[in-house]
Amino acid sequence: MHTGVSHPAGGQGGRPLSTVRLHAGELTLSYDRRTVAEGLDVTIPDGSFTIIVGPNACGKSTLLRAMAGLLPPRRGTVYLDGAAISSYRTKEVARKLGLLPQSSIAPDGITVADLVARGRYPHQSLLRQWTAEDEFHVTTAMRATRVTDLSERPVDELSGGQRQRVWLAMALAQQTDLLLLDEPTTYLDIAHQIEMLDLCADLHGEGRTLVAVLHDLNHASRYASHLIAMRAGAIVAQGDPRDVVTEDLVREVFGLPCEVIADPQTGTPLVVPASRQARRLLETPVDATG
Ligand SMILES: Nc1ncnc2c1ncn2[C@@H]1O[C@H](COP(=O)(O)OP(=O)(O)O)[C@@H](O)[C@H]1O
Ligand SMILES: [Mg+2]
Repeated sequence: MHTGVSHPAGGQGGRPLSTVRLHAGELTLSYDRRTVAEGLDVTIPDGSFTIIVGPNACGKSTLLRAMAGLLPPRRGTVYLDGAAISSYRTKEVARKLGLLPQSSIAPDGITVADLVARGRYPHQSLLRQWTAEDEFHVTTAMRATRVTDLSERPVDELSGGQRQRVWLAMALAQQTDLLLLDEPTTYLDIAHQIEMLDLCADLHGEGRTLVAVLHDLNHASRYASHLIAMRAGAIVAQGDPRDVVTEDLVREVFGLPCEVIADPQTGTPLVVPASRQARRLLETPVDATG
């Protein structure tokens, strides 16, 4: 594989790195008896737009939940600003880091405006109730995600794509420099996927650190400044998408023979799956054809 791709070799151990805001060392992640990942080291470069790709059920959502402090690791530690994330109070974490979960269920009958306003909850207290600043961040977040016109509609009556934008608005209203987004483009048609990714790129451009799980390797290659490829609870490769997304990698991670060409628009890797016919030929042993 090309240089510039780092393979996880461990080594960073279970200590906070003073220079990185969000990282994790030697994570073991499990649900009851099912272990999803073991000895996982993850570093999110500050100011990056990190995109995580990998097959279904390889542990992407589990990792994101752990990095957000919602799933306590069985072993290892997630570090946020130099301290174990478990050492912060929930509201403190929520003022530093926002998570858009893969599937979220809104409270029954809640309106768009009220749900987005919940993003301000971490900033409130008994002494500090709703302020003009809260109002400003809610309005701005709704404008950025184009849900202003929906503000009085109940969330449960919206389309999947509209709902996705409302949840993102809530995460934006939270005003955190770190944003973790689990499949923010699912349910969106191609134009709205690009719109969502452009919005993410804008947030990244403003200096935020973003971590997103995406399924589309071509979109991931276009937008990621740092790509992490996962398989079976482990990081297989990470780095610049141009170095990471290769035919070998796609075959190793997804089991899919493909061709990787340059995206005619951006020059970034464009994955073209091998045709059904080509895949059949690949599966046929050479000396069995005569
Ligand atoms: N709440 C849960 N309880 C038990 N097992 C779970 C739970 N959530 C996910 N898993 C299992 O953990 C593994 C990783 O899941 P997940 O992180 O959601 O994968 P991905 O997001 O990559 O599709 C899967 O085998 C899944 O079935
Ligand atoms: Mg998932």
